[in-house]
Amino acid sequence: MVPDFVKRIWDKYKLEENVRDHCITVANLALKIAERIEKNGIKLDKEAIFIGALFHDIGRAITHDPFQHFLKSVEILKAEGIDEKVVKIAERHFSAGITAEEAKKLGLPEKDYLPETLEEKIVSFADNITFGSKVVDFDSFMRRLDKIDAENPKLRWFTEATRKRAREMKEEIEKLSGLRF
Ligand SMILES: [Fe+2]
Repeated sequence: MVPDFVKRIWDKYKLEENVRDHCITVANLALKIAERIEKNGIKLDKEAIFIGALFHDIGRAITHDPFQHFLKSVEILKAEGIDEKVVKIAERHFSAGITAEEAKKLGLPEKDYLPETLEEKIVSFADNITFGSKVVDFDSFMRRLDKIDAENPKLRWFTEATRKRAREMKEEIEKLSGLRF
């Protein structure tokens, strides 16, 4: 169930239906992962995970540029007075994160965009294995990186670092949740 305040903000920024559907799929998957991790005795902020996932791509109302949309998400969520924890989930969700050094090379404000908390990692990971509103598997995410390499070999330095980070994130989440992706 999408809370009314989320719907109001989606409506205010005219977020496309397909992006909303994507966010709902990511939110449900992230929650499922979080519940399994909690069963194994680790307490998580499930509310932040769910709301963070529903809002992570709100910036796509402004731009679909992969390297810009999450910055727009941050701008919108801050302007709307959304909890800092949720803002961070959006800021750090892209792919498997971006280091400050990489951000500089990519022409982004020079800071870390790496998912740090488990809440941030769960949303980032759930997003990685959700294409549109379909949950896929981790190999599909890796194949998507291969496709980026084929289309844009200049980004290889970034996709290589992403593969390593994404794999580490997957392994951590599998270990904590007992799930396999
Ligand atoms: Fe995104």
